Amino acid sequence: DNSPKGQLTKLHDQAAKLYHHLLVNTEAGEKALHYLTKRGVSRKLIDQFDLGYAVEQSDEEVLLEYAQKQQIDYQLLRQSGLFTEDQQGNLHDRFHGRIMYPIKNENGHVIAFSGRILAPKATQNEPKYMNSPETPIFNKRRTLFNLDLAKKGARQSGSLTLFEGFMDVIAAFGVGVKNGIASMGTNLTEEQIQIIQRITSQVNICYDGDDPGQNAINRAVQMFTDNAPRLGVKIIQLPAGIDPDEYVQKYGGIKFSDYLSQNTENSVEFHLKYLQRGLNLKNQDELMGYLNAALQVIAGVSEPVAQDLYLQKLATKFGLDKTSLVNQLAKIQPPSR
Ligand code: GTP
Ligand code: MN
Ligand code: MN
Ligand code: MN
Ligand code: MN
Repeated sequence: DNSPKGQLTKLHDQAAKLYHHLLVNTEAGEKALHYLTKRGVSRKLIDQFDLGYAVEQSDEEVLLEYAQKQQIDYQLLRQSGLFTEDQQGNLHDRFHGRIMYPIKNENGHVIAFSGRILAPKATQNEPKYMNSPETPIFNKRRTLFNLDLAKKGARQSGSLTLFEGFMDVIAAFGVGVKNGIASMGTNLTEEQIQIIQRITSQVNICYDGDDPGQNAINRAVQMFTDNAPRLGVKIIQLPAGIDPDEYVQKYGGIKFSDYLSQNTENSVEFHLKYLQRGLNLKNQDELMGYLNAALQVIAGVSEPVAQDLYLQKLATKFGLDKTSLVNQLAKIQPPSR
């Protein structure tokens, strides 16, 4: 494929090979390799995901020199997002001192990179992850990390599992959860939901067990409900303060798989729990506020039997008479969806 896009993709595939070589075969990559090993990333995973390393020294333009040796067109290099341009119009390697995660398209070709800083230096406020800018071949809104491999995983498991981070996808993959994807460090987009919907009829959301993770699940559930109402959505909430990668490192793959299969909630169950956060339900006013919000959610459930079950659970949980909840529910207009 000799089109400009084809050439950009080829350059990215070559760059990934170069960064990978620097990580696994050179002295410059030793520190990074050690870091990955310490984090439990095996050599097999490093190869499967083509992880790499961009050298630290900002005056060593390893990728630029490689590209110039290949006599790659200057305009193509400028467009690629792999370089920065200084005042004089000279190009420099964009990534330095970072673990390189190739981001691939559905066919497994590299279209961008995310670089993770090795050891965040206290003095510098560099971002932990740095992504390639948007280019003719990289549209963040339409990209999902690991979609190329997860497609096959989804065929086998019948679902895709959405994680927050690259490391979560990789750690899960290493212990046999091969249907993991991650959005590009931002909120889930409508475009990504359309892609997910095309590939599977079931998505599991498994974000970090912290407050940002909870809020992100809430937003994602809303996005799926609005944009893909027929897609099955399950939520897996991890224990507080832990992310999927940390769970795998701490408890191992068997416990992780068990956790994923045994702790799924549907979106209503999640929502009813989410609405409780930060409230003191021993306080009558706060409890009333919660019950009203919960009934709003239950009013949106279309199956009468399911509605009844949620009401029953709510009544039991707070020692209430179910009939009064039913009466209260009858006053609520079902939300228009
Ligand atoms: P590790 O510390 O390597 O385990 O990363 P993580 O995946 O646990 O990171 P975290 O939970 O903090 O963030 C989740 C995802 O958000 C990451 O995988 C990135 O895609 C994205 N992200 C985190 N920090 C940054 C940042 O500083 N800049 C950008 N652009 N994205 C970020
Ligand atoms: Mn430089
Ligand atoms: Mn997080
Ligand atoms: Mn995390
Ligand atoms: Mn993490």
